[in-house]
Amino acid sequence: MDEALVDKGKRRFLVGATGVVGGVGAVAAAVPFVMSLFPSERAKAAGAPVEVDISKIEPGQKIDVEWRGKVCWLVSRTPDMLASLPKLTDKLADPKSEQDQQPPYAKNEYRAIKAPLWIAVGICTHLGCSPTFRKDVAPADLGPDWLGGFFCPCHQSKFDLAGRVYKGMPAPLNLVVPPHKYLSDTRVVIGDDKA
Ligand code: FES
Repeated sequence: MDEALVDKGKRRFLVGATGVVGGVGAVAAAVPFVMSLFPSERAKAAGAPVEVDISKIEPGQKIDVEWRGKVCWLVSRTPDMLASLPKLTDKLADPKSEQDQQPPYAKNEYRAIKAPLWIAVGICTHLGCSPTFRKDVAPADLGPDWLGGFFCPCHQSKFDLAGRVYKGMPAPLNLVVPPHKYLSDTRVVIGDDKA
């Protein structure tokens, strides 16, 4: 056989094979890229709404749950606690929750869907510390006017029992009320409020 013809045939084969390998490589490289456009199972779980059984929360008690890596509080407010809220209006920076720190359905005097249960992200709006739940009335360290609320130990910001910040505090805004909804009288979801 003519040498030149054999070489030409080999070359043709090599060119064809390289093309195929290149094609497979391109597909293989494209798959991880396409997959990376979708959140991983872990990421989905971290951002997913959290369902909470509220039937066991005692009146006056706060429980913590984690949503999107943040601590969220669920506080069962007693009638006395709720009665303290209107008394504080003059002392608060944003008593009517004008700032966008809650969904529209929580823009009311209780900052809640149902007055007794208050749900909030437990992160101070100053520099992100977690305020302490101080439901005790008139304790020595917070003074005789204290009607219960949240006290940030980092720079002493004070919030009432609806997370509304007192005037003149380092924290500029009320605490955040996250999106949430009731599934029943005993179950709520944090992180989802679609009907
Ligand atoms: S972080 Fe809460 S007052 Fe500064």
